[in-house]
Amino acid sequence: MKILVLNGPNLNLLGTREPKIYGRETLADIEADMRSLFPEVEIDFRQSNSEADLITWIGETRGQFDGIIINPAALTHTSLGVCDALKAVADVVPAVEIHLSNTHTREEIRHKSLTAPACVGQIMGFQGFGYTLALRALVNKLKS
Ligand code: DQA
Repeated sequence: MKILVLNGPNLNLLGTREPKIYGRETLADIEADMRSLFPEVEIDFRQSNSEADLITWIGETRGQFDGIIINPAALTHTSLGVCDALKAVADVVPAVEIHLSNTHTREEIRHKSLTAPACVGQIMGFQGFGYTLALRALVNKLKS
């Protein structure tokens, strides 16, 4: 099973970025947790600050990956392009949306996700731990 894990803008700064909101785990810590949870799952873990990279990578998943876990970060609230890319492959590559923070408890602009309707489910509010929850959920979905 091959899973693509995508992280959007500013998530490269995890660890030092607003730790009260996002926690102290770095993206490398989160990646290591995911790899140790399912050693048999092939995980391709990426981060980009560029919307274009994310859209291109999502569009390349057909026939290459079984599923996507995505934290679109700020693009969650702005990017119809990321939403459309997820929808374009959703027939064969299901996606789970993940957020470190509970965006519903934050500023109103963060309450709406443009990308969630293109995903099979969403996990938020558990900081880095949520990524392993998302992986468990996606593996379970793909096996069922
Ligand atoms: C985030 C929430 C977004 O609103 C924010 O722009 C991020 C991170 C999260 O994981 O909690 O960059 O996606």
